[in-house]
Amino acid sequence: MAAKFFIPSVNVLGQGAVDDAIGDIKTLGFKKALIVTDKPLVQIGIAGDLVEKLGENGIVAVVFDGVQPNPTTGNVEAGLKLLKDNQCDFVVSLGGGSPHDCAKGIALVATNGGSIKDYEGVDKSAKPQLPLVAINTTAGTASEMTRFCIITDEARHIKMAIVDKHTTPILSVNDPELMLKKPAALTAATGMDALTHAVEAYVSIAANPITDACAIKAIELIQANLARAVHDGQDLEAREQMAYAQFLAGMAFNNASLGYVHAMAHQLGGFYDLPHGVCNALLLPYVQEYNAQVAAKRLKDVAKAMGVEVAALTDEQGAQAAIDAIKALSKAVNIPENLTVLGVKEADIPVLADNALKDACGFTNPKQASHEEICQIFKNAL
Ligand SMILES: [Fe+2]
Repeated sequence: MAAKFFIPSVNVLGQGAVDDAIGDIKTLGFKKALIVTDKPLVQIGIAGDLVEKLGENGIVAVVFDGVQPNPTTGNVEAGLKLLKDNQCDFVVSLGGGSPHDCAKGIALVATNGGSIKDYEGVDKSAKPQLPLVAINTTAGTASEMTRFCIITDEARHIKMAIVDKHTTPILSVNDPELMLKKPAALTAATGMDALTHAVEAYVSIAANPITDACAIKAIELIQANLARAVHDGQDLEAREQMAYAQFLAGMAFNNASLGYVHAMAHQLGGFYDLPHGVCNALLLPYVQEYNAQVAAKRLKDVAKAMGVEVAALTDEQGAQAAIDAIKALSKAVNIPENLTVLGVKEADIPVLADNALKDACGFTNPKQASHEEICQIFKNAL
């Protein structure tokens, strides 16, 4: 089967990336930006700084700061209205996964019409979205460089997975200096999300040598830097290495897709409004326990990338070592102990499993599961 590789055409990473990217934005010739962000980024002044920098370069910016942590269909509609009222000719997302996903929803509907609900699934849109520049402040969902857009449908209480070649930003920016103010818990959750992207992409049935290389390097960098970034938020080097790591993990899953961790975590996020990265961190070991039935050799590679000496281990022992290493890293960065602590109820599991099996992210899991098996994985994580 032929492999396709999606990535923004220009990507700026490292210290000073924002200033560098402003020059790129200027050369693109746009006149009026809709900045899609959230209230905390307005309060700490990062959104205001961006408005100023764009203004110095002749670009007017209108700020939409109504993005919720799990962005909703209502958030997309509100942002779209502001975009139309102000006749903006491009979109700038500023923040983590939530602003990027909301901005993709706005930009996609701006050119294709209808409602964001019309685009749930894979490649449902007919036209490219309005140009999107994605400036990232977390490490990370990698949404600043992927074609994945996750929006909560408030009416159905589910997260819709919109996987569309037209939602890829034209320019992605990862500046670690914007990441220094991230609280420790958010750093931990987003870092474990990135680890989940890399592991799911590595065991995916759509993996290829390019995504493998990205995934393994991402896992090595996360193992070496995540705890440092969590315990000392001002460690610029660790922040920068995590920015690269999450970008590499994004390159891996944007092209090899994901698996049941994300398919299941999306349901927890949609149903209980729980943080995406924490749900992933808690489900990751249990889904890989299930996947070890068919992907033990691959999971042994994951263990090696996490610093385990695997030469003398069987594939099965290697897979178990990977699961243990994932749990140890979760513990080291203070991820909550289990899903019960987060308020997940056993009685809700059958419905959550129903919806997880419909989520497009699960289609590339190395082993397809029954409803009963998905329920069991949820129960193991309680
Ligand atoms: Fe994710």
